[in-house]
Amino acid sequence: MPFDHRKYVAFQPVRKTDRRWPNQVIEQAPSWCAVDLRDGNQALVKPMTVNQKQRLFDLLVRLGFKEIEIGFPAASQPDFDFCRKLIEENRIPEDVTIQVLTQAREELIARTFEALDGAQRAIVHVYNSTSTVQREQVFGLDRDGIRDIAVQGASWVKQGAAARPDTRWTFQYSPESFTGTELDFAVEVIDAVTAVWRPDQGQPVIINLPATVEMATPNVFADQIEWVCDRIQYRQHLRVSVHTHNDRGCAVAAAELAVMAGADRVEGTLMGNGERTGNMDLITMAMNLYSQGVDPQLDLSGMAEITEVVEACTEIATHPRHPYAGELVFTAFSGSHQDAIKKCLARRCEGEAWNVAYLPIDPGDVGRRYEEVVRINSQSGKGGVAYVLERDYDITLPRWLQIEFSKLVQKAAEVNGGEIDSLSIRRLFDEHYLGLVPGWELQSYDLHRDSDGVVAQVQVGGEGVETHLLKGRAQGAVEAVASALEHRFGIAIAVEAYDEFALGEGTSANALACIRVALEGNAGSAAALAEDTTSATIQALLSAVSRLLAAGAERPVRETVGTA
Ligand code: KIV
Ligand code: ZN
Repeated sequence: MPFDHRKYVAFQPVRKTDRRWPNQVIEQAPSWCAVDLRDGNQALVKPMTVNQKQRLFDLLVRLGFKEIEIGFPAASQPDFDFCRKLIEENRIPEDVTIQVLTQAREELIARTFEALDGAQRAIVHVYNSTSTVQREQVFGLDRDGIRDIAVQGASWVKQGAAARPDTRWTFQYSPESFTGTELDFAVEVIDAVTAVWRPDQGQPVIINLPATVEMATPNVFADQIEWVCDRIQYRQHLRVSVHTHNDRGCAVAAAELAVMAGADRVEGTLMGNGERTGNMDLITMAMNLYSQGVDPQLDLSGMAEITEVVEACTEIATHPRHPYAGELVFTAFSGSHQDAIKKCLARRCEGEAWNVAYLPIDPGDVGRRYEEVVRINSQSGKGGVAYVLERDYDITLPRWLQIEFSKLVQKAAEVNGGEIDSLSIRRLFDEHYLGLVPGWELQSYDLHRDSDGVVAQVQVGGEGVETHLLKGRAQGAVEAVASALEHRFGIAIAVEAYDEFALGEGTSANALACIRVALEGNAGSAAALAEDTTSATIQALLSAVSRLLAAGAERPVRETVGTA
């Protein structure tokens, strides 16, 4: 059996009875370190050029990152060159610290310090692998052997820094493959490293705990972090950082729970680019905080620019469903969702807390347009179609016409098999409801009341067509015009629905009237836009009746409109 789950052994949870992290709430952003230019870059099919790195570095600075891992200069010439460029061209802002990675090997550490020569501040990040599988199968070393590598690396870092006293150094150690390391051994190695560095004596130190491979559910990772934080020496003198990968798809959740468990700092990449399924996505975690009312300490308002730069540098397209950044993440196609969004947005008052169904944040906050929120396809309902007409054309439809028109839109979307844009919806509306039957254009009208009711005199015609006068009398204006038509054609007209609306400012007409009439068992609707509501109403009635007559074909329309 090639697909056999019995091949795998479940990850053993941490035995813990003093778990405190589940009761914590994140009320403050952790400090961030962007590792796009190192971990993210190491995962690319085509590593970034120095120019691409510079572009991404500048973006990270603009977004507000204060610590940026810029590469692995001892392992890559472009990374070395980039590091030199930043330092020599003075491209690192005063409040930003660059970080570089190195293995715990003497010659690599020496080369790392060479790359950092002249830097005002820098974090030297040294790592070695500590997990059981790596110890036993990759290095063939026991615990002591692995601990010695870490201690030796820490000493070389300390010496390298001591030789360059003009730089403000921070030391960072990662027990790589931490998630697969016995916790007591992780603590042993960390303590051995910090015993060399002595954060208690003023040396800034970061202990970075990586989920190099995400091996368990995020709660297990949080347990691991809390367990280690409770036991390492000098906890209060050093910063604990986490660096999660996304093998199980939970890197963000793992980092969030790790912060609840005591981590001060989070490493990750924009859009989660990184080895295999990627690193922890900084955008998602920061925006998750933002959506809870916590200042993420990053400015992510220009999401379009962020995705553009990341895509250009990584040559990886952004998934349309990527949280907060994807093209479709604020869009509703489904009718009920559209309806709910439309209602919430209409009720919303400026300044009050965001509380809109289906939209965890205001799309405008990340530079998205409200036009994108409601898009129409064959699954959309009346609410969405009405919303688009109102939003883009200031046309308000009565409920009965929303229902009728949305069916037409749905059919059109089914025919074209995809989305139907706002302009096509408007054209469809014009064609089906506003179009005039030749010869049935309202030219002028006169309505006056006498003792027997309203008298209507209506001139109809059109370009190149003779004008005709219709006359009728009834209790109301619509009925009077209907009666004139009934009289003229010997038909019975029933007005089934009728609504009129004043239009918003951005429109050329001032009024919209919508009407549905039944003529000898056949019903049809029409609408009209005009300068005033009476003209719109009369035209809508003329259009509805003339279409039904034209469809009936037994009465050639133009001939039947005789001079009154
Ligand atoms: O994923 C990882 O373990 C790393 C370390 C070097 C921190 O990238
Ligand atoms: Zn990593």
